[in-house]
Amino acid sequence: MPGSTKLRYGGDYNPEQWDRATWLQDIDLMRRAGINLVSVGIFSWGLLEPREGEYDFSFLDEILGLLHEAGIDVDLGTPTAAPPAWFWKKYPQARVVTREGVTLGHGSRGMGSPSSAEYRRAAAGITSALAKRYADHPAVVMWHVHNEYGAPVSECYSEQSVLAFREWLQRRYGSLDGLNAAWGTTFWSQQYREWDEVDAPRLSASIVNPAQRLDFKRFSSDALLESFVMERDILRAATPHLPVTTNFMATNCPSVDYWKWAREVDVVANDYYLVAEREDNHVLAAMDSDFTRSIAGNRPWMLMEHSTSAVNWQPRNIAKRPGELARNSLSSVARGSDAVLFFQFRASRYGAEKFHSAMLPHAGETSRVWREVEALGAVLQGIEEVRGSRVEARVALLWDVESFWAQDLEWRPSVELDHRERIEAYYSALWRRGVTVDFAHPSADLSGYDLVLAPALYLVDATSSANLEDYVAAGGNIVVSYFSGIVNENDAVPAGPFPGGLRTVLGLSIEEFLPFREKETASLSSGATARSWADDIVLGTAEAEATHLDGRAEGRAAITRNALGAGTAWYVATKLEGDDLGAFLDTVLERSGVAVGPVPAAGLEVVRREAPDATYTFLLNHSEQEASYDVAGTDLVTGETVDTAVVPAAGVRILRTDRNGADATSAGAR
Ligand code: GAL
Repeated sequence: MPGSTKLRYGGDYNPEQWDRATWLQDIDLMRRAGINLVSVGIFSWGLLEPREGEYDFSFLDEILGLLHEAGIDVDLGTPTAAPPAWFWKKYPQARVVTREGVTLGHGSRGMGSPSSAEYRRAAAGITSALAKRYADHPAVVMWHVHNEYGAPVSECYSEQSVLAFREWLQRRYGSLDGLNAAWGTTFWSQQYREWDEVDAPRLSASIVNPAQRLDFKRFSSDALLESFVMERDILRAATPHLPVTTNFMATNCPSVDYWKWAREVDVVANDYYLVAEREDNHVLAAMDSDFTRSIAGNRPWMLMEHSTSAVNWQPRNIAKRPGELARNSLSSVARGSDAVLFFQFRASRYGAEKFHSAMLPHAGETSRVWREVEALGAVLQGIEEVRGSRVEARVALLWDVESFWAQDLEWRPSVELDHRERIEAYYSALWRRGVTVDFAHPSADLSGYDLVLAPALYLVDATSSANLEDYVAAGGNIVVSYFSGIVNENDAVPAGPFPGGLRTVLGLSIEEFLPFREKETASLSSGATARSWADDIVLGTAEAEATHLDGRAEGRAAITRNALGAGTAWYVATKLEGDDLGAFLDTVLERSGVAVGPVPAAGLEVVRREAPDATYTFLLNHSEQEASYDVAGTDLVTGETVDTAVVPAAGVRILRTDRNGADATSAGAR
């Protein structure tokens, strides 16, 4: 991690909300907890530039000096996610306009329109001033640009955005003919003959051209990225020695294409907040970490924000139970993070987030949360040697945000088509089997994987469909779930039957979709229950592995298998749930040669990080019962040597197995 030989520990720190005496207490407590990195200044623009072009760095100078004296490093924020009041007053044209035509006010946070020249100029100004002032400050070890691009709003329909959209379209299509062809504007009389006839896809009388919607989403992600790159380049020029990052929201930011974004940061950093209401929220957290590691190219990444306990913005802000804070943090470390940071160090007394948990809650240092924060700091020091080790996965799950953008537009064949639901279902089944997955883009090199899963791949372009065919032909194994391969990159149906781009790899075609009524089910010859969806499949080279025994698709294939070259492609034409999905995946994992140990006890999360000389096995027990797992090794925290690790209810164990010592791969559940 930047500037350190240690796992990073800390959080967002907002000293502008406190007096100097409190800063001194804070720093003392940070040291006690083993905190070595804090993110400062993220929301300080109003203090740092009280009037346009006038800077006052006194508070930042002082707090950075104090932190440095205490040996605490700083991840210095550019404060561009919350412009000051003078900015909004002087440049009202920079305000974001929503799709409904509402111009957003201020008094909150939220950047100006990413396409606003005034916003960009102001953001560049404060960024340059910070870069100049702190280029050589010994406390500053990295830059934290902005905050969560894409939140709270990601699309802007202002006049400046429309102009920027047209320029983006000109670059993409070259000519209006190209645009008219890509958008299929002969439909509903939409032909464009002048560029200034092209608008953002505003709310309209009926549904707006889906290709236009999709391009506006691409444009909006790119406009935000341009804002980031503009700040990053200022910082890189002033401080080439310091890494630059911005905090992502991995699987939770539906408006940003992180495969593209991750290439632009020096280190991938991510924020993750539990879906408190869900009993399986630790599985979703694991999924988010695996996705983050994957966009980071399997290099170590940073958990930049999570919460010690409840957040303040969910319908029910449920407090974490004892031990949950450590399990959540260490699950991200198990899945490749070399940093554990929280939002935020000290709970705010005023403002919108006063009911949000913190490392130091309102209840202070005698609280359970603070004790758990101190204990976690000690654990991180005990496991420092895992830093830099890698997670290795044999299974990849395909994730293409463009496909999700397109699938989520209006007028689809069933309201039950939900890409996120299918991805979670397949991911969760593998999590329960202790199988770690990477995420991959469908056009990526997949040759390193024994098995590739495509639970939701509605949009497939020619590059991706050729890539998937090549992967299978060369000996790969793929599972594709229904409503995949339906459209190309313009949300248009390729010529011929569904699933256009996947017909060859799957060896079948679909005459008609047969979505179910609500709660309707059907029986399959495999014994499984079909829900929600069926296709009227015409088999080509594929063979049926399961057929519908009854219902609207009676006699039709529900699960098929196609041999292509040296590999195999399965198609699952219905929604399988629970044990049905699990049993199907067991078969596929076995036939794909993926080594799976015995299934871990319910609620036991098992993940490994690999170093050249050792395997680190993380055992995180999310259940209320003690669990055992056969793994020979040394407990990094207690020093105890075991052949079988007993993990207390709600507890964690992290074991080191030397590569030339006990065989870590024979590990299994008991
Ligand atoms: C994050 C944000 C933080 C804080 C936190 C509260 O999305 O980056 O600034 O608001 O949520 O959960």
